[in-house]
Amino acid sequence: MLHERFPATRETLPRVELCRLPTPVRRLTGLETGHELWVKDDSRSAPLWGGNKPRKLEWILADARAQGRRTILTFGGLGTNHGLATALYARELGMRTVLALVDQPRDEHVEAQLVRIRASGARVHRTRTSPRTVLALPYLMARYRRPYLLPVGGSSPVGAVGFVEAALELGAQVEAGELPEPERIVLALGSGGSVAGLMVGLGLAGLRTRVHAVLVNDKLRLDKPRLTRLAQRTRRLLRRRGAELPAAPLAELDVVRDFMGAGYGHPIPQAGDAIRRAREAADLTLESVYTGKTMAAVLAGAIRGDGPLLYWHTHSAPR
Ligand SMILES: Cc1ncc(COP(=O)(O)O)c(C=O)c1O
Repeated sequence: MLHERFPATRETLPRVELCRLPTPVRRLTGLETGHELWVKDDSRSAPLWGGNKPRKLEWILADARAQGRRTILTFGGLGTNHGLATALYARELGMRTVLALVDQPRDEHVEAQLVRIRASGARVHRTRTSPRTVLALPYLMARYRRPYLLPVGGSSPVGAVGFVEAALELGAQVEAGELPEPERIVLALGSGGSVAGLMVGLGLAGLRTRVHAVLVNDKLRLDKPRLTRLAQRTRRLLRRRGAELPAAPLAELDVVRDFMGAGYGHPIPQAGDAIRRAREAADLTLESVYTGKTMAAVLAGAIRGDGPLLYWHTHSAPR
């Protein structure tokens, strides 16, 4: 969509096709909290691992390949969806992934992720804490010889382009009458690339939708100024690569802070309830780190407004 809308970017901003797009939208009648609730369901966005990550990787891996890099070095918690998705799709393209992982509370989901990460062929370094990861960086850069350095969550401006594209995709679905223009979108805020991409893309898509980002990560500074800066860097990247962007404003943003609990990966009781209700009433499979907390915010009525609310489902379907 970006390529069709801004043809100059076809050459300058490459993309590898990993996803099955557009992902479906549907109304969630069983879960409504007094207002119209819809879902943008990315759970089967791509074959090996779905959710929001492959959308970013379409641009990230193409960028790495264009730079002639053979190894991706990236970061996350022990149960990182981002690290796993990167390893799976990079391997498809003949690239190797190195992961530096910090500790997070271990539950069934994290244990299952670790098994998948080991099976993905990724090289894992357990750096345990963020400061130790920073200290290990020069060693890792030297050892893996000029790897493509990918920030945590794939939330570089190049990664965020995946969600500029996603917003254009949503705009086309609104235009086609598949759903009404959402007044609000709610999604998990883990490293910020998805939110920043939407902030840029919604305006380009002609949507006046407001973004509500449910903060689930206390290990990064994720506030409005930071997210706005990432959105502006994404816009600058697009302009530098030849996209003649109209002067559309960034989407309005609210950061919702009451559903993180004790920190990244720490459970909150409302998420357990939200996971159960989403499964029973809407046939959606959520997890406890990101999407359970986000749905808990929705069900608690914390995303205020009157018009249609779109919950962006960012977790991969179980496999
Ligand atoms: C399932 C899931 N939802 C949401 C997010 C948050 O997306 P972002 O990192 O772009 O903020 C992530 C990753 O961080 C994730 O794995």
